[in-house]
Amino acid sequence: MRIAIGSDHAGFELKGFLIPMLKEMGHEPIDVGAYVLDENDDYPDFAVAVANMVRKGEAERGIVICGTGIGSSIAANKVKGIRAALCHDMFTARLSREHNDANVLALGGRVIGKELAMEIVRVWLESKFSGGRHKRRLDKIREIEGIGG
Ligand code: RB5
Repeated sequence: MRIAIGSDHAGFELKGFLIPMLKEMGHEPIDVGAYVLDENDDYPDFAVAVANMVRKGEAERGIVICGTGIGSSIAANKVKGIRAALCHDMFTARLSREHNDANVLALGGRVIGKELAMEIVRVWLESKFSGGRHKRRLDKIREIEGIGG
């Protein structure tokens, strides 16, 4: 799977840890930056770069990382068609796929450790959208966005 991944300085280390792990899992991570550790960089730049790749179909999924994951998830969710889920446990990671068909995962590099992040990413990538009544609910969100059912 092509997976766009981006982080600001606060998620930089975690991004660097996850990229080789994604490759080992047989995925194709596309790193949209940050490419250098710079405390003055801004999470919306990377979150929106990831979200736009997913929106355009250039990546099937996206992962955005900042200090808490909050700013990145807010920014990514401004892009039409993006359903970014901030998950710091396996339960919400799985449900964000099964119920919400989340196409972007947000993580907080200052909140969770690398091993937990790795397991969250694994569960999130392996879980599938359940459809059914959940599709009806997502269609309502698409209506809010003006992109129809
Ligand atoms: C940067 O200091 C920090 O605010 C950012 O990484 C993120 O946590 C914002 O939500």
